[in-house]
Amino acid sequence: MSDPSGPAIEFVNVHYRIDGKHSLISNLNLSVLRGEALMLLGRSGSGKTTTLKLINRLLAPSEGEVRVDGRSTTEWDVIRLRRHIGYSIQEAGLFPHYTVQENVALVPKLEGWEPARISSRVQEVLQLVGLPFHQFSSRYPDQLSGGQRQRVGLARALAADPPILLMDEPFGALDPMTRAELQHEFMELQKRLRKTVVFVTHDVAEALMLGNRIALMDSGALKGIFTGAEFFRSSDTAVKPYIDAFQAMQQTLKAGD
Ligand SMILES: Nc1ncnc2c1ncn2[C@@H]1O[C@H](COP(=O)(O)OP(=O)(O)O)[C@@H](O)[C@H]1O
Ligand SMILES: [Mg+2]
Repeated sequence: MSDPSGPAIEFVNVHYRIDGKHSLISNLNLSVLRGEALMLLGRSGSGKTTTLKLINRLLAPSEGEVRVDGRSTTEWDVIRLRRHIGYSIQEAGLFPHYTVQENVALVPKLEGWEPARISSRVQEVLQLVGLPFHQFSSRYPDQLSGGQRQRVGLARALAADPPILLMDEPFGALDPMTRAELQHEFMELQKRLRKTVVFVTHDVAEALMLGNRIALMDSGALKGIFTGAEFFRSSDTAVKPYIDAFQAMQQTLKAGD
């Protein structure tokens, strides 16, 4: 089945329609390379979350194919597929009645790991996201700050070491300082782990900072894929508002010096 040199994720002529008519995604063609962080950039309602959900088959295409490791998501055993793919969302989506440790142990447990292995992995992965085990393992989500919850969400997504990570505006609800801190740590982590990451954001600065490439979405369609340099050189009318917004932000920062 899978060609290790082929893309990790491929959208081939993908459409997604509601009730067979209203089109949320139209004719999406996109490859995500192994080990890259691809940023899905677009304004609210442009179809970013729908695109992510088509990857882990929370949704199935109305037309076309989404392939993960060369195989259509509709041919995967859906449980296997989801365990192959970590998913981290805004507000972290933790189970409120589970402790940090129990939240992070979720997938390894479902995978039937030995308790000793689970316990050492939970320690390891909490360490990885900057949360000392002894301090945080028995807390409940409502005993954590927003940034700490997001770290636990990331730890949970990473726990069973999936090769693919989907992140849906993971830092969107955080205060600017905490966001900057987590963005920095994400970059450091990605340097080490080299996961295939699809990261949703509406923030152009975040996209430029964290991504190898930017896939720009508008009204359910892909407007183009760019490296950071290509993005700034582009004369595409869909790109221009983002460059303007980025430059306006830099002007504001300079004015504050
Ligand atoms: N289940 C649904 N039924 C009807 N419309 C939906 C549904 N899910 C999403 N939408 C609409 O589809 C568009 C794309 O949504 P979404 O993928 O969540 O956008 P984004 O994540 O970029 O903000 C939006 O206009 C949204 O309102
Ligand atoms: Mg969304």
